[in-house]
Amino acid sequence: MTTFDLVLVGFGNVARRFVSLLEERRAMLERDHELAVRIIGIVTKRHGRMFSLAGVDAIDAASGLENGARLNQSMSSATASDDGSSVDFVQRVVNAARDRASRGELVVVETTTLDIEHGQPAIDHVRAALSGGAHVITANKGPAAFAHRTLTQMAADADRRFLFEGAVMDGIPVFNLVRETLPAVTISAFRGIVNTTTNYILTAMERGSSFDDALADMQSQGIAEADPSLDVDGWDAAAKTAILANVLLGASITPHHVEREGIGPTTAARATAARAAGSRLKLVARGERHGSGIDARVGLEELAGEDLLAGIEGKQNAIVLATDVLDEIAVVQRGGSLTHTAYALVTDLVTIAGDVKNCRATSESLASTPARRIR
Ligand SMILES: NC(=O)c1ccc[n+]([C@@H]2O[C@H](COP(=O)([O-])OP(=O)(O)OC[C@H]3O[C@@H](n4cnc5c(N)ncnc54)[C@H](OP(=O)(O)O)[C@@H]3O)[C@@H](O)[C@H]2O)c1
Repeated sequence: MTTFDLVLVGFGNVARRFVSLLEERRAMLERDHELAVRIIGIVTKRHGRMFSLAGVDAIDAASGLENGARLNQSMSSATASDDGSSVDFVQRVVNAARDRASRGELVVVETTTLDIEHGQPAIDHVRAALSGGAHVITANKGPAAFAHRTLTQMAADADRRFLFEGAVMDGIPVFNLVRETLPAVTISAFRGIVNTTTNYILTAMERGSSFDDALADMQSQGIAEADPSLDVDGWDAAAKTAILANVLLGASITPHHVEREGIGPTTAARATAARAAGSRLKLVARGERHGSGIDARVGLEELAGEDLLAGIEGKQNAIVLATDVLDEIAVVQRGGSLTHTAYALVTDLVTIAGDVKNCRATSESLASTPARRIR
């Protein structure tokens, strides 16, 4: 059994559900993956921070926050004093846990809010973690949307992982699927419905709901971004499009390179007219190789009724990948929830646990191999 120490950077909806899901799945993670966890640090923007190498009670901290308290564990160590930025906190905690980092057993879990201008300070959280020898898992789109190539290279150089399965389509495998099951395949393009809030609003408006009511529904379910203009103006979809283009098509773009369109109350008339005519109005994310460059866009499209994406309703998402060997592959997410996003973080953690286990098995097998056989 390996115990991984986790540092939670951001402790909102996703991180709290991640913590409770870890508890719910504890027996399975221990039995099937020899994986146990201990949370040693939590930092937020306005709700305080806590740190102890012996472990903090994150479930208790979450219920305290829900009852209006702050993270108020007394800071006996200068490591996690209330001074300094969240980036300083990550640096200090990772440094304090350097023996665990050196064994590959320290993971920084980045779930702060998306900064659509520059992806910060999340990128700096990731850098601080990787340079201290920690792995990083994140549901925040910023790091992979703005700095995928650099951070992936940094992680590879440090022999650590930088994983972000939850950044696109929550817990439904997209990057895991491609990485683990599609060797020697080239993806030439993708198209999809990747923003739950706008798809839910478009579907609700077709049925007569108002834009504001449908958006309020998404906010009350904790699915809309903290700043809902990120969803309705197409920025969230543009960030996901940038990540998909960067990872699947080898691009090096940011959300600001993605041509973008959003939705608003006036989109209702177009959505109902399209439906009456047998088609569907959808906010479609696309990326395609184009000579030596990449075309990436998010825009409203009227899709023919028989198009797979036309049937993606409400909280559903889908991506269609165009490949050279397997033609088109579609991944459909039938429902989205905080649990799905939290589960993506769990899958990333299991990937890291698998690496550590394999690495140990290799070292043990080399150690037990007679010298003459490995000469
Ligand atoms: N919610 C979803 O269904 C979903 C799905 C996929 C991906 N995501 C992504 O996951 C991330 C987290 O989402 P969420 O719903 O959990 O957001 P949230 O509830 O708003 O929580 C964000 C957390 O990050 C903290 N934070 C923000 N800026 C910070 C900073 N500079 N330093 C330290 N902490 C900071 C906040 O601190 P305070 O508590 O002090 O405000 C809060 O604890 C976002 O990037 C989001 O785009 C969310």
